[in-house]
Amino acid sequence: MTIAIHESALIRHFNTRKEVLRAWEERIGARFSPFRGFKMPDSRLYIEDSDFLDSIVDLIITNERHVFIRGPVGSGKSTLMLLALRDLPTLADRKGNKFVTGYVGMTGLYEKQMAAAIADSLRVKYKRSWESSQIIDAVAKESLRRYIEEKSRTALFIEDVADNQEAAFHKLRFLADLPTEEMVDTYGKDQALDEPIVTLVMSGTLMYWNAMLSFLPQIADRTEPLDVPVLNNAKAKEFVGRRIAYAQGRIDSFDPNSYDVYPFSDESINVLNTAARGNPRDIRMLARGCQQVAAENFRKNGDPTVNKEIASLVSQAYATILREVQ
Ligand SMILES: Nc1ncnc2c1ncn2[C@@H]1O[C@H](COP(=O)(O)OP(=O)(O)O)[C@@H](O)[C@H]1O
Ligand SMILES: [Mg+2]
Repeated sequence: MTIAIHESALIRHFNTRKEVLRAWEERIGARFSPFRGFKMPDSRLYIEDSDFLDSIVDLIITNERHVFIRGPVGSGKSTLMLLALRDLPTLADRKGNKFVTGYVGMTGLYEKQMAAAIADSLRVKYKRSWESSQIIDAVAKESLRRYIEEKSRTALFIEDVADNQEAAFHKLRFLADLPTEEMVDTYGKDQALDEPIVTLVMSGTLMYWNAMLSFLPQIADRTEPLDVPVLNNAKAKEFVGRRIAYAQGRIDSFDPNSYDVYPFSDESINVLNTAARGNPRDIRMLARGCQQVAAENFRKNGDPTVNKEIASLVSQAYATILREVQ
C-alpha cells in the first residue's frame, strides 16, 4: 500500500549508492542489509508476545465469539495471524479440541474467487461451474459434517477482510452464523449444535472494523476486536538485534537475554521506536534510513555507528515525507 511509497521516498531522500551501503554491511559483518523487507518472513525474526498469542488462541478454542485482529498497516497483523494459525492445533489438542484450519491471505478478490479461496483453504471440493453461493454452501455442509462426524470445528483465518468488502461480507456472514436454524432442526435432536461450527479469525485496520460494525453489526456483536500490541523500546531493540544477527548469519545462536545492537546505540533505537510509534514495519524502514546515513559517514570518516543524532535526522525526514504524502 502507501507504506511502500513511503519507504521508497525515504530511500530516495538519502539516496545512497549501493557500494557505500555494501561497505557498511561488510564492516559490521552482514551479508545483506539487516533491514530489507523479506517476501518470505523467517519466524526466527519474530518477537513473540506469547501471552497475547495464547489469549488469541484461547479465545478461538473456548469462546463463542469470532476474533478480529486490529491494527494499522505494518503493525504485525499478518504475522500474528500466522503465529496463531501455527499454534492453534497444538493448543487445541492439549485442551481436547480438534480444529480444521484454513487461511485466506489474498486481498482484492472477486466474490467467486473469494468463495473458491475459502473452499480451497479448507480443502472442500467444489465444481468450477458453481456460483459462489453454492461453493460457500458446500463449505458449510462439509464443516458441519466434520463437526458431527469428526468432532472437529473449523477456524477460518481471513486477512484484511474489508479489502474484499462486498464479496467477503456476505460469505463471512453466512459462515459466521452457522449452524443455521435448518441445520439445528435436522441434526440438533441428538447433537448439540450450540456453538459456532466455523470460527472466523479476521484481521484489518480500524477502518475495516468500523465498516464491519456498520455493514455486519450482527457479526461484529459476536466478535472480539483485539488490538495488535505496539513494540515497546525493549522489543524494538530486540527487533533490530535479531535482524542484525540474522544478516550476520548468527540468528540461530541469538540469545534474547544477551545481545548487542552494534552499530546502533540503545538511544538511537528509542528515538526510532518513538517515531515509528512501535510499528515494526516503520522501525524497519527507519532503521534502513539510518543505515544509509551511517554508511555515508563510514565512507567519510570510517565510523559505522548509528547514534541518536542520525536517528533523529532520519525520523524528521520521515515525518516530512509523511506530511507531503498526506
Ligand atoms: N512481532 C514481530 N516481530 C518481528 N517482526 C515483526 C513482528 N510483527 C511484524 N513484524 C514485521 O513487520 C512487518 C509488518 O508486519 P505484518 O505482519 O505484515 O503487518 P500488517 O499485516 O499489520 O500490515 C513485517 O516485515 C514483519 O515481518
Ligand atoms: Mg498484513
